[in-house]
Amino acid sequence: MEQIVNVAKRRGFVFPASEIYGGLNSCWDYGPLGVELKRNIKSAWWHSMVSTRRDIVGLDSAVLQHPEVWRTSGHVDGFSDPLVDCRECKARFRADDLDGAICGKNKKPISEECRGHFTEPRAFNLMFQTHLGPVEGEGSLAYLRPETAQGIFTNYLNVQTTARLKPPFGVAQIGKSFRNEITPGNFIFRTREFEQMEMEYFVPPDQWEQWYDYWRKERMDWYVGLGLAPERLRMRDHDAAELAHYSNATSDIEYEFPIGWKELEGIASRSDFDLKRHSESSGKQLEFFDGQTRERFMPYVIEPAGGVDRAILAFLAEAYDEQDLDGDKRTVLHLHPRLAPMKVAVFPLVKKEGMPERANEIEDALRKRGIQTFYDQSGAIGRRYRRQDEIGTPWCVTIDGETLSDGTVTLRDRDSMEQQRVPEADLPAMIAEKLAS
Ligand code: GAP
Repeated sequence: MEQIVNVAKRRGFVFPASEIYGGLNSCWDYGPLGVELKRNIKSAWWHSMVSTRRDIVGLDSAVLQHPEVWRTSGHVDGFSDPLVDCRECKARFRADDLDGAICGKNKKPISEECRGHFTEPRAFNLMFQTHLGPVEGEGSLAYLRPETAQGIFTNYLNVQTTARLKPPFGVAQIGKSFRNEITPGNFIFRTREFEQMEMEYFVPPDQWEQWYDYWRKERMDWYVGLGLAPERLRMRDHDAAELAHYSNATSDIEYEFPIGWKELEGIASRSDFDLKRHSESSGKQLEFFDGQTRERFMPYVIEPAGGVDRAILAFLAEAYDEQDLDGDKRTVLHLHPRLAPMKVAVFPLVKKEGMPERANEIEDALRKRGIQTFYDQSGAIGRRYRRQDEIGTPWCVTIDGETLSDGTVTLRDRDSMEQQRVPEADLPAMIAEKLAS
């Protein structure tokens, strides 16, 4: 984990938020490479969930919703974690997750003795409160959303009628969520502000099991397809005591992070809980009427809900590698090319003889195809390769004397480190094809 945090900071993936003021506990900012990686993960998700499907459409709902949304969804009364105080060191802990908890006094992992000083657990609501407008009071109270899902449920009718959809269909959304976690930590694994990729799939009630199985498989395949090793992924079913108040079945996709096996994404069968509650609470008819079969029903919902930041951590952990090349250490991120922040690095061998100009032309041609490039003309070529390996750039292109005479360039592969000569005119199509495969 320490190596990943180091490389992330050193190379501009993730910085501590407000660092010049000493940072803010478990808040992180994404730097130039981090935003590209994040954008690529979100695009890959959107591509598989929305762009390539006829049955799923997108939504971007507000972070702030009517407070009644959160009362109806059960978040005001029930979205809490058990909190304990240590009477001795005054630290606060999450009673159901004491793994890695650190004593506030001696800064060591908590002991049996520490546990003896704990108060009885009490429910701590995780929603951040704020106030709308200039007057603070009961009437202006609002919450930052703790999940993007409710914005989908409150828009169910708007989307279903405007997009003229009939169950089974889904609504997908990517956006920020906020939870006042008692013990955030482990870098970007658990934070108080994070991004979610959620999709609510509305189905006829008698089809929920079939779609639950379908989405469990589909989501697992997505992570494997983008490079997570199957042996570091597993599906874990929640037992009855663990199920959220809205769910009749849930499975977590867990990944073996450097901190152990942890949840990466949850796939929940939410039954008709949310639509039914919102229908009762708002007085709006949310049942679906099928004009063909003349049937009326409240759709059941299957929800794959993943975290963008957690996915970033998983992909970075999977990709990180240190190799010994005849006594020389090579740090390399074996990121899937579609996720890599930069696709191609372009190097003129030397800063003269027209090579930089030719390199600029090649870079322009790649960028025009929408291929992210990185230009670097300083230092020995070997050092330039190493810098790209460390940020996961799959291909490097070197422009040399031969390029000027015969129009070919050296194309070097990050993982095999093999080099081949290719005509520069073929490069954009070749890279685009590699990215599409
Ligand atoms: N709508 C259902 C829902 O929000 P969840 O299991 O609480 O379910 C879904 O959250 C995903 O969001 C998690 O699997 C995780 O990837 C991510 N997530 C949840 N809390 C997080 C936090 N505090 N920091 C980072 N990611 C978080």
